[in-house]
Amino acid sequence: NSPKSSNIRPDMQRVLPGRIMGILAKAGEVAENLNYQVYAVGGLVRDVLLKVENLDVDLVVEGDGILMANKLAEVIGGRVRPHEKFGTAEILFPDGYWVDVVTARVEYYEYPAALPQVEQSSLKHDLYRRDFTINAMAVALNPGRFGELVDYFNGREDLQIGAIRVLHNLSFIEDPTRILRAIRFEQRYDMAVEPQTMRLIKEAVREKVIARLSTERMWGELKSILEESDPEHMLDRMSELGVWDYLFPEITFWEVQPVISEMPQALMILRNWGWAEPAEKWLPYFLAILHWTTQDTAHTICQRYFLGRRQTDKVLDTIAHWRAALKSLSATEDVPLSELTKIVQTLPREAYPLFLTLLEDKMAIRRFRLVMESVHRQKPSVNGKDIRGMGFKPGPMYRIALDALWRARLDGLISDRDEELAYVKAYLESRNAPKIETKQPEAVG
Ligand code: CTP
Repeated sequence: NSPKSSNIRPDMQRVLPGRIMGILAKAGEVAENLNYQVYAVGGLVRDVLLKVENLDVDLVVEGDGILMANKLAEVIGGRVRPHEKFGTAEILFPDGYWVDVVTARVEYYEYPAALPQVEQSSLKHDLYRRDFTINAMAVALNPGRFGELVDYFNGREDLQIGAIRVLHNLSFIEDPTRILRAIRFEQRYDMAVEPQTMRLIKEAVREKVIARLSTERMWGELKSILEESDPEHMLDRMSELGVWDYLFPEITFWEVQPVISEMPQALMILRNWGWAEPAEKWLPYFLAILHWTTQDTAHTICQRYFLGRRQTDKVLDTIAHWRAALKSLSATEDVPLSELTKIVQTLPREAYPLFLTLLEDKMAIRRFRLVMESVHRQKPSVNGKDIRGMGFKPGPMYRIALDALWRARLDGLISDRDEELAYVKAYLESRNAPKIETKQPEAVG
């Protein structure tokens, strides 16, 4: 019953950045002073063994997790957000980074007589509640044991043979998000769900356990999938296993699959053209999934998944405009660059990867590239402040003038800052844009 152990400190040192190693070492020292045992668990341990960087520190404490978090924050800094009810806490840093601390619950009442032994095994309890063997390993952090791998369920071996395996038969019933997680880890690490686990997934899908999930949790997992670097195989697998229909009952997978399969290449090309990764990393794939539906259906889906107003607008704009944009870029006659740009800009930036997959002929792709490059290069240097400096009253005319300037630049009518300033001034004057009122000196006598 004792776990396989070996020391993985050298791997940790190789894979983890100094800041993380520092936090782990301090956690061990703080725990030692409190007479607790502390472990890093979950994804970090898995990724260290795979030699993949992972910055998520999840600590399990055999002891009072909240006290531990408070003491640790005194040493490493950060603000503690405790959750008394669960005995967990987060240590939050100003740069947005955070460390999770949970209490490995010791079941005193269950085994009142055998406290030491139970304390020993509380980590095991904690690990047993987790999703897959590869995610159920821990690494000890107390100074005398730092780097000792605790592997009760042969997670290391499963990592080596590439097997996604649950710890018990009720795993997917207890937590149906694990079906999506199995798909995500399998594809991310190029592993395989082992046969018994696959049977349990199929059984759970047959029993419609996913329908019992809250949409929040469903969306959380779906978003994680769409934020992976290659979601397309995960989406294939979702369809294969009958999971897709729970997430997007309105959308036939095979209708959007060809576009989805071309997304990775489109993303790569766009990055080469200088397209910056959007903050909402999941959105390009989400748009690819939804582009073929109607506005109404898309709206329903966005509401179901609690998308904000701005994000919903991006979805609806994409659906409203991609066809017209496609038509303009594929037109046989010459269209001025400014015109093309205006059309492309009816689409949100996040829809560009989708849009690129939809462009068929070389000419259209070349035009799209031209638009993207010129938007980068031709951005005028004149701004609202400059216009104010010319004495014009702030108002809607500012935008209109800057828009005109931008088009003039795209079409090569002006080339430097002096010309830009002159253009804007002439433009506003010709339209009688209101001037800032200056106090006239009072007439004397
Ligand atoms: N976990 C679980 N069941 C879930 C979610 C999480 O058992 N439904 C456990 C796993 O042990 C997992 C850990 O909580 O390793 C942390 O979860 P999370 O941060 O979501 O996943 P990671 O494994 O860290 O994966 P990723 O690399 O995608 O962050």
